[in-house]
Amino acid sequence: MVAVTARRRVVSGMRPTGRLHLGHLVGALDNWTRLQDEYDCFYFVADWHALTSEYASTGDITAHAIDNAADWIGAGIDPERSTLFIQSLVPEHAELYLLLQMITPVSWLERVPTYKEQIAQLSEKDLSNLGFLGYPLLQTADVVIYDANFVPVGDDQVPHLELSREVVRRFHNFYGEVFVEPQPLLTPTPRLPGLDNRKMSKSYGNTIDLGDPPDVVVKKVRQMYTDPKRVRADVPGTVEGNPVFIYHDAFNPNRDEVEDLKTRYRAGKVGDVEVKTKLAAALNARLDPIRERRAAALARPGALREMLVEGSRRARHTAAATMDRVRDAVKLRY
Ligand code: TRP
Repeated sequence: MVAVTARRRVVSGMRPTGRLHLGHLVGALDNWTRLQDEYDCFYFVADWHALTSEYASTGDITAHAIDNAADWIGAGIDPERSTLFIQSLVPEHAELYLLLQMITPVSWLERVPTYKEQIAQLSEKDLSNLGFLGYPLLQTADVVIYDANFVPVGDDQVPHLELSREVVRRFHNFYGEVFVEPQPLLTPTPRLPGLDNRKMSKSYGNTIDLGDPPDVVVKKVRQMYTDPKRVRADVPGTVEGNPVFIYHDAFNPNRDEVEDLKTRYRAGKVGDVEVKTKLAAALNARLDPIRERRAAALARPGALREMLVEGSRRARHTAAATMDRVRDAVKLRY
């Protein structure tokens, strides 16, 4: 008899390729934070995944890993409730990845949409390496090694989870039931544009980072793209699709203020300066506690590192138990 119902498990990871920004906050971290109330959460720094494309310059990965972990804590991820860890400190992921490679047709990986898309988009990088092709299979190992029920991801990652389930079924056909089939947990958030209204991305330099100080936030908001047809404050403007209002909707909790600004903007009765000053104030109010927790974490680098090492130890304990089952299933028991 099962005495207590174990909480279902969530696993998700992020590649440590740079500083985290508002897109990561609304697209992932806010959701990760909420999920802690309901699930047994494992969140990790996917440093091996970073290597699949950053193999030529690996020097910044560990610094980003630590900085990102501080952002996670800043955003509300609680290392007491969730297991935070570093992928490469749990080498069992690599062992499972290797075994999954034995049963995964290359064609399954070649047809994952992100594969050809990324190769085309990142044309300045040589992504013809085997590791990049294997990216979604390593991701499969990441989640099934913890019996994850749910994987919070953006919609671009849904095909990766489809692949994961197909690989799990194939594994079960050969060796019997071992894994849980993971399901994506889509983050229901509108996509935030960058400051220049292109896709938000650090490579475009159009982000507001979680660690940006208040004056930098003010400066960046001042430079934000608005309705280009609105050359003066008394010209009626368009609110829909206007980044400044998308941000107001996402970050300004004062709904009355936002509605008032929209009404006056549409009527040509408010200047950009007022709209942006109020947006910067709302953003800074939202970022203040994040910055504070982030700075406190970074002020004690030894403790931050130790937390990740300890989390990795806990994760490894679970991963090792799964690998015991896996080795039995594939009959590699000596
Ligand atoms: N591919 C994910 C991304 O780019 C990162 C990732 C690696 C991940 N392993 C994972 C996400 C396992 C969820 C589960 O966002």
